[in-house]
Amino acid sequence: MDNVFVWDDALATGFNDVDLQHKKLILIIEDIHKTIESPPDEYVLRISKDLKKLTDYTLYHFGEEEELMKQYHYPDYEAHKKQHEAFISEVQNQIKTLSDTDRQKRMHFYLFLGKWLINHIAGSDQAWAEYIKTQKP
Ligand SMILES: [Fe+2]
Ligand SMILES: [Fe+2]
Repeated sequence: MDNVFVWDDALATGFNDVDLQHKKLILIIEDIHKTIESPPDEYVLRISKDLKKLTDYTLYHFGEEEELMKQYHYPDYEAHKKQHEAFISEVQNQIKTLSDTDRQKRMHFYLFLGKWLINHIAGSDQAWAEYIKTQKP
């Protein structure tokens, strides 16, 4: 089973801490992928650990990014924060599909996580990074 979501240097924001956090988030999402493919007797324990990691680390990362945006008075701060909040609430909505024994539904959740994250890094996160670079002395 190959990883679907992998880090690519084109995703770099140039902010080292943020880039490391993004790399770690991709790995956490790929852990969920591995868990989905794990034997049923391991699944329940693994998925609850993975989800705790995902939610804790996502909240931490979003908080760090929002602090940075605020610090530089990023004009799209509110809209960006809303995207983060919408992601968190969508994850909460979809978490229940992980107790479904249907592999397709679990995969759908994992693909949603990975696609959202990659698109967000490539789009919205690049936008604040570009802005802040122009503001830095
Ligand atoms: Fe981010
Ligand atoms: Fe973001």
